[in-house]
Amino acid sequence: MADVAFDYENLMEVEHGLAQRDLDNVEPRLQEAADELLENSYGFMRLPKTGEHAAACKEFAENIRNSGATDFIHVGIGGSALGPMALQRALNHPYYNLLPVETRGGPRIHFAENTDPNSLGAILDIVDPANTWVNVVTKSGTTAETMANFLVIRDVLGDYGGRAVFTTDPEEGYLNRISAREGIRTLSIPKDVGGRFSVLSPVGLLPAAVGGLDVDALLRGAAQCVDEIEAQGAKHPAVGGAAMHYLMDTARGRNVRVMMAYADALERTAAWFVQLWAESLGKDGKGSTPHGAVGTTDQHSQVQLYMQGPQDKVIEIVEVEEHPRDLIIPEAYEDLDGVGYLGGHTMGELLNVECDATRRALAEAGRPNCTIKLGAMNEENLGYLFQALEAQTAIAGSLYAVNAFDQPGVEAGKQITYKRMGRPGY
Ligand code: PA5
Repeated sequence: MADVAFDYENLMEVEHGLAQRDLDNVEPRLQEAADELLENSYGFMRLPKTGEHAAACKEFAENIRNSGATDFIHVGIGGSALGPMALQRALNHPYYNLLPVETRGGPRIHFAENTDPNSLGAILDIVDPANTWVNVVTKSGTTAETMANFLVIRDVLGDYGGRAVFTTDPEEGYLNRISAREGIRTLSIPKDVGGRFSVLSPVGLLPAAVGGLDVDALLRGAAQCVDEIEAQGAKHPAVGGAAMHYLMDTARGRNVRVMMAYADALERTAAWFVQLWAESLGKDGKGSTPHGAVGTTDQHSQVQLYMQGPQDKVIEIVEVEEHPRDLIIPEAYEDLDGVGYLGGHTMGELLNVECDATRRALAEAGRPNCTIKLGAMNEENLGYLFQALEAQTAIAGSLYAVNAFDQPGVEAGKQITYKRMGRPGY
């Protein structure tokens, strides 16, 4: 069972927070949005229970892991990269690629996302071209950044066809044309699943399985979330959270939503959420600005602003009750008050005490905040969390009355780039 809880205590009936009557006012629209979510059979709500393409991803990943591959390069950007990166960062060893191959049991994993030549060049510096797999992930099959990375990598890998996979739309886009020409295997991103909602499709499942993660548990956690939303509707805390964040922005002027995760491993998860919320809701002059932060690190960077800066933020803490490992702080310097007190505690305890201290300090300073609590860092909980935040974002789209599933604002820059780079027809 996934163990993920949402706590809005420091957001409700507190100074600068929401009153029950605010929620009562929005309740009919929230109800409508929840009904719409469940009736519309959105692809991202279907994926966890159908587990479509999961078996193919697992089988493909097993072949790659057993092939003697040294490296696996996942090429993609935005929704085609952030989810896979978040999973790898949250659930595998932070220095995964440096672990001995026997411990990893599979290839090193690299993400070619930006078109920064320094980053791609660095990946190519360290891979063994003859034993490297490439997974090109683009729903549209046209994204310039992804295609450019692919073309450079393809050139370096030489006869790469047997070590390549394309994860793309089932029919459309240039990757399908290249695949037909060169016989490259493909995995399908369902037509009704958009990039930033695609982490539980082959976009996230293949790299997760290549990295040895348990994709069945990931889907199980997400399916539990879908079941609970189906049973509870607008009463599900993630669904209700959509109304709270919407109201904090539109009725309280708090238009910055900070996701502050108290675990380094969740840094990319916050980045994934930032894209999900920003690209889905930032339309028609609406939407709140998401921002990612990491505790305790950002207590020494941003918390001053959160505590005493403008009253424009909602801080959402993500807490992990049980960290994947813990370290005892040795007893030493007992005669020095400012050092000796730490001895005998654990690092995880200090992290969680600081998490709670920040939450309380924010509340006492009249800074509304909320918490998402993960019992542990594991596949089931991450699956649940991704699913809950996707559902919450879709519901928020209905409340803001914007289409959460398009991104017309990024087109203009693409057109100019195509023209400047000489793409025919632009
Ligand atoms: O969420 C989205 O739809 C976008 O962020 C896309 O994932 C991103 O633009 C990459 O698109 P594609 O997968 O078509 O290369």
